[in-house]
Amino acid sequence: MDKLIIQGGAVLRGDVWISGSKNAALPILSAALLSEGLVTIANLPHLQDVTTTIELLGTLGVTVSLDEKRRLEVNTSTLKSLTAPYELVKTMRASILVLGPMLARYGEANVSFPGGCAIGSRPVDLHLRGLEAMGATIEIEDGYIKARSDGRLKGAHILMDVVSVGATENIMMAAALAQGTTVIENAAREPEIIDLAKCMNTWGADVQGAGSNTITINGVDKMHGGYYKVMPDRIETGTYLAAAAATGGKVRTTQTDPSTMGAVLLKLEETGAIITQGDDWIELDMQGKRPKAISLTTAPYPAFPTDMQAQLTAVNAVADGVGTITETIFENRLMQVQELNRMGANIVVQGNTAVVTGVDKLKGAPVMASDLRASAALVIAGLVAEGETAVDRIYHIDRGYECIEEKLQLLGGKIKRVPG
Ligand code: UD1
Repeated sequence: MDKLIIQGGAVLRGDVWISGSKNAALPILSAALLSEGLVTIANLPHLQDVTTTIELLGTLGVTVSLDEKRRLEVNTSTLKSLTAPYELVKTMRASILVLGPMLARYGEANVSFPGGCAIGSRPVDLHLRGLEAMGATIEIEDGYIKARSDGRLKGAHILMDVVSVGATENIMMAAALAQGTTVIENAAREPEIIDLAKCMNTWGADVQGAGSNTITINGVDKMHGGYYKVMPDRIETGTYLAAAAATGGKVRTTQTDPSTMGAVLLKLEETGAIITQGDDWIELDMQGKRPKAISLTTAPYPAFPTDMQAQLTAVNAVADGVGTITETIFENRLMQVQELNRMGANIVVQGNTAVVTGVDKLKGAPVMASDLRASAALVIAGLVAEGETAVDRIYHIDRGYECIEEKLQLLGGKIKRVPG
């Protein structure tokens, strides 16, 4: 297994371009299944989860081709299977996002039941209940979700009792081709939901209200396809800015969207960073200072994202003072703590809160990535630690960060990948 070897101590400086958003790309790739006409998706990040989704489309018989600019053309007219197999779903829970579109367009979908994952049990009950409210029958058989619809799905009024990004997306996509109007109440408001809605509307759907907690989808007979460019990745943006803050550096993220970054920028400013921004860039200048400890609680957008919590734990680990990081979305998402403590951090977990007392110095150590964002935290810690850090199991990082070592090298980070 590949490892990342980091020599700590470099202060990050310079510009780094931001890739397309993983969490927008995955539902958009699934939404391609709704379209009768040709679909072209641009700004797809080169990531394992995107490759897995493209492979999944291929398994369904869909024709996909990447052009020289990494734009993906998707032609669904060759589809011949309605089953998302266990082998693919087990590697990526977001495969569940093909359920709604396949069911809506073809009246049938079989998706292997996604299991739990390291960060928590992550059920899919809300996805299934939403589809049932639209008239689908759903059975769980041999480890598969088997969804059927007698004719078109029917528009419904759906109140989600938990705010779920994935369930909102699945129901939105299913409703796009349903008969009549669907209203989703207590919908997730994440920017990736807005991006999916814009994309679907470009391809012929009628989705209104995305970005608010009530989304209205007027079902259409068919979607014609077209071109769509995926939004920039706000979590990747935040990760590079956090790395700059931890190292006392000055980094400008380019090709990004500051309007999606509110809560993260506020917290980074609280560390003492000076943040400036333009239409498509954000610069963080720590002016060589040590960050001040901050406290935060994760919650659905527009509050602080759970996907940035681990990275800010790493910043706090070397900050001046005591900060608390409280995780409210997933039950087991403070896994970075144990590994950070092995590097000399002083973090105590109390329930779903990590109490972080900043230390003067972290020490390089061999550490193990446990999930995507926890591994980003370990990379940040390795960049500030004294000596060498070896991050093992970096396939987690490759699921969400495009060219992470190249991008950090460009900023002056001493990091390399060694094949294992
Ligand atoms: C998405 C993101 C992930 C992010 C998360 C929360 C993608 C591909 N992934 O994951 O990076 O960390 O949003 O912002 O976009 N829940 C239920 N029943 C369900 C569905 C969810 O109880 O049917 C619960 C989950 O266990 C969790 C909470 O709802 O506690 C939020 O999860 P959800 O928003 O659905 O996360 P994902 O869409 O899986």
